[in-house]
Amino acid sequence: MSSFEDVDGAADPERLARHLRALSEIGPIAAGRRERAELLGLRPGGRAIDVGCGLGDDARAIARIVGPSGHVVGVDASTALLDRARTRSVADDQRVEFVLGDAHRLQFDDGTFDAARTERTLQHLADPARAVGELARVTRAGGVVMASEPDWGTVALFGAPSELVRVLLSAAEERIRNAWVGRELAALFFDAGIIEMTVLAHAVVVREFELLRAVIDLPALSAEIRERNDSDIDELLARIEHDFLIGRAVAAITLFTVAGRVA
Ligand SMILES: C[S@@+](CC[C@H](N)C(=O)[O-])C[C@H]1O[C@@H](n2cnc3c(N)ncnc32)[C@H](O)[C@@H]1O
Repeated sequence: MSSFEDVDGAADPERLARHLRALSEIGPIAAGRRERAELLGLRPGGRAIDVGCGLGDDARAIARIVGPSGHVVGVDASTALLDRARTRSVADDQRVEFVLGDAHRLQFDDGTFDAARTERTLQHLADPARAVGELARVTRAGGVVMASEPDWGTVALFGAPSELVRVLLSAAEERIRNAWVGRELAALFFDAGIIEMTVLAHAVVVREFELLRAVIDLPALSAEIRERNDSDIDELLARIEHDFLIGRAVAAITLFTVAGRVA
């Protein structure tokens, strides 16, 4: 199970916050932030919501678009992450309202927002279809709903022997509740009645070992594999680390983004 299903109940929320900070700053995730924000079609004065906002980086990017006359709400199930999001927003001088809430039952009236988004959160939810339904419900007719999620069935990782890499990758896939949600996004949107869909897929390419640790949460993953007494896994991890450190290894995962309009 991934700790992001219940950050406040996790042994070390600070480790999870560090994990989010590392991911938030990597290539395509950081580089694509502005592009993903623009998919929402917001203007100054607009109202938007980011569900599963984590540290609030995307909510702040949207706040820059809607400006002081707009309103952005970041919703998350973790008070620990919301506290950090508020602190980061003060430092960044962006006005975002961060509130505790559940993606499965948002505390907002129908049609409250011009745009609703979620990123790397549906993968952890008990019922992603219901959460997409909620995003559509709180968005006005003609407004935009957007989701951006990885697909854990698409991880490519350099390493040998390949059987052990498969063990590692299938453990990474098993930790995530909805591991294939990336490729399922378009269907979830279709089923929620969202129209005029744009579907994008970007590869997140990883060349640095520290980023690999963050992307596939290697510390948690290796602990789980070790518990199953797979004695060769430490040797594989040491070899992978070495190959990344000398610059001969690469990993990648596909990040799917879908945006569409509420009918
Ligand atoms: C992997 S993090 C992604 C955070 C952020 N969207 C980002 O891209 O950095 C998943 C987030 O979903 C939140 N979360 C998990 N279950 C939730 C739920 N039922 N309702 C709202 N947020 C939830 C977690 O607390 C966490 O902040």
